[in-house]
Amino acid sequence: MANIRIHNLQKSFGNTPVLRGVGLDIGDGEFISLVGPSGCGKSTLLRILAGLERQDQGEVHLAGRSMDALPPSARDIAMVFQSYALYPHLTVRENIAVPLAVRRLNRWQRLPVVGRWWPGSSATRHAIDGEVSAAAKQLDIAHLLDRKPGQLSGGQRQRAALGRALVRRPAAFLMDEPLSNLDANLRVQMRSEITALHRQLGSTFVYVTHDQTEAMTMSTRVAVMMGGELLQVGTPAQIYFDPVELRVAEFIGQPQLNTLPCERDAQGRLRHHGQLLGLALPSAGPVGQRVTLGLRPEALRLAPVGRLGLSCQVSGHEHLGSEVLVWLTLQGSEHRLVLRCDALAALPARGETVGVHVEAARALAFDAQGQRLPVEAQPHV
Ligand SMILES: Nc1ncnc2c1ncn2[C@@H]1O[C@H](COP(=O)(O)OP(=O)(O)OP(=O)(O)O)[C@@H](O)[C@H]1O
Ligand SMILES: [Mg+2]
Repeated sequence: MANIRIHNLQKSFGNTPVLRGVGLDIGDGEFISLVGPSGCGKSTLLRILAGLERQDQGEVHLAGRSMDALPPSARDIAMVFQSYALYPHLTVRENIAVPLAVRRLNRWQRLPVVGRWWPGSSATRHAIDGEVSAAAKQLDIAHLLDRKPGQLSGGQRQRAALGRALVRRPAAFLMDEPLSNLDANLRVQMRSEITALHRQLGSTFVYVTHDQTEAMTMSTRVAVMMGGELLQVGTPAQIYFDPVELRVAEFIGQPQLNTLPCERDAQGRLRHHGQLLGLALPSAGPVGQRVTLGLRPEALRLAPVGRLGLSCQVSGHEHLGSEVLVWLTLQGSEHRLVLRCDALAALPARGETVGVHVEAARALAFDAQGQRLPVEAQPHV
């Protein structure tokens, strides 16, 4: 069992609070991604889990055992960094062997020349070599073991860094943006390799990224962090389709969520600049209540200009291969919206006036504080 329990972690650097009471339960064998904008405290949280940083308050438990007094080496956790952190003067073989050598050989046995003749070292070295070779084979870098990091590509370096974590056979892996130095194609490839590795090992993975595609495609759960707080923790589908607040909805999704300021009318219907949208709020609230409507590009459909729905002018297209993003400007409010169309469908020309229909089932509504409000199709239409 390698579940991780994080309870009320707080950390400040000087007077700046960086973690403001973070709590999270990570299940044994789970792959959880931590996403959030730059500076929100992701690396700090990971470094506290690894024991590289000390929290001001709160606790970390691994498999039911408190980690707080343990140094990094005693935590049964391996960390993989964005910068690889390989020793440049050592070969890949020696780099991967480092954690095993530190654990199993004494100071004299570790010396390059003396160590070879030191009693007891040869059998241990042989065993270490076997484990390094097995990890290298698993990561497809067996042919690179005698090279130095400087003679490797970015992807190969990242594999070597993974190898060094792998040989420790830790209960949990912590990864801090391990793919962010790689080019787009290699990232996609390494993404599936890391997922495969997770399935093979069955260990707990905590993966920090600010690439939401990585988080959404690789993880069993995603934790969205902002300003030192966890805003929401859930499956990728929950985070995308059922965000608890506007900040989460705006952070997740590519292209970004469309937002539309609206007001509640006397019948509970939503109006944008007086225009009805075909949506209503089932909950009670004051007339004139300000509501932000969150509309993913797929919650909008082109429709004939009509009484319900929005009247827009097409301001541009963005071809993405199988689909096209159509950019629109709302008539009256000059608000910008984007929706997705099939690349093979007939597209309205730039400058053309079109109607846009909002799919009530996919619409998200938020109150003035950004908290989620239930919304439904306007009754009696
Ligand atoms: N050792 C330190 N001393 C002072 N401030 C620090 C230290 N480490 C981090 N910080 C600050 O704490 C905040 C959170 O940093 P952290 O590295 O955890 O962010 P992050 O979410 O990992 O960001 P990024 O996505 O850019 O890596 C930042 O404002 C950063 O400047
Ligand atoms: Mg970071």
